[in-house]
Amino acid sequence: MRDLMESIENLSTVIPKHIISMKDLNRSALEYFFDVAHQFSKLEPHLVCDLLTGKVAGTMFYQPSTRTRLNFHSALQRLGVSVIGFSDPATTRAGDYYRESLEDVVAFTGQLCDILVLRHNETGAAQRAVNVSPVPLISAGDGYNEHPTQALGDIWTMHKELNGLDRKVIGMIGDLAIRSLRSITIGLSEFNIKKLLFLLPPGMQVPSEIEDLLKNKNITWELVDQVDELLNKADLIESIGVRHPNHNLKFHASLEGATTPKKYLLTSEVIRKNKRYIPILHPGPRTDEISCDVDKLDNAAYFRQANNGMWMRMAIISGLLFKGDKVKRRARMSLSEMVL
Ligand code: CP
Repeated sequence: MRDLMESIENLSTVIPKHIISMKDLNRSALEYFFDVAHQFSKLEPHLVCDLLTGKVAGTMFYQPSTRTRLNFHSALQRLGVSVIGFSDPATTRAGDYYRESLEDVVAFTGQLCDILVLRHNETGAAQRAVNVSPVPLISAGDGYNEHPTQALGDIWTMHKELNGLDRKVIGMIGDLAIRSLRSITIGLSEFNIKKLLFLLPPGMQVPSEIEDLLKNKNITWELVDQVDELLNKADLIESIGVRHPNHNLKFHASLEGATTPKKYLLTSEVIRKNKRYIPILHPGPRTDEISCDVDKLDNAAYFRQANNGMWMRMAIISGLLFKGDKVKRRARMSLSEMVL
């Protein structure tokens, strides 16, 4: 427990006040996150359940979510943080006659909470929220911008699955303009990755911003044509699939009827054809791009990935709440020494 408290303290000194972009986190910060998340995952729950008792979090979800919202709620509750919030803006003044502005919702909710979590359909909403938030704010994904907590959990999962990231070849299936893949790519560029392999949806290109970033960081990348090529060349594959709604809409149109073209499909048959073991990640939600018969293979790292995301969010929340909270932190450290 004492090691954990020291690690959280170290983490709190290297992270920004808010977590809205992977661009704000260097390799050293990422490794501190890995360390704290790892320690949370190894501790008995009763040792951390009062770590942040008395704190209140506000979760503001303007867009649907399964994993991210529940993952945050689980992480907050495991730390002893009480949670208020909404999962549908239609139940708030933002969704009725008043069309209350994002700025007002954040500024008012921030008066009631010690930390805020925001998911929003608009690209750039996280930055707008941070501009008025009186407390630390974590982005749970905004439009086509970023999804930093997904990236932190996923990159830690890659690190665990591959026993490190340096000199590894990482394959990705999907549109790099989508927030999860964009944030993951930004985070991976902090490591000495051997190569990134991209299997993009039809007609898509690597966004120029990502191309520039990879060039500046000396990361080699290559486009591939089909999933077999990725399975032959990559050490790990993360797929987000190629069928997506418009992420700038509050509510998504149905994707019913469309199917993923074969060259993007991960099935147990194509995975087994490849002799090497390759972990498969997916941030969710999936449609048909990874068939359910993959779930029973060890390669299906996406369930481990969801679990890792929870430990990582505990690291993020504790790091932000300990930042600048020195008096309470010292009291908690004494308490943890007594527990020992
Ligand atoms: N990965 C992810 O963001 O999933 P949800 O949309 O279900 O939160």
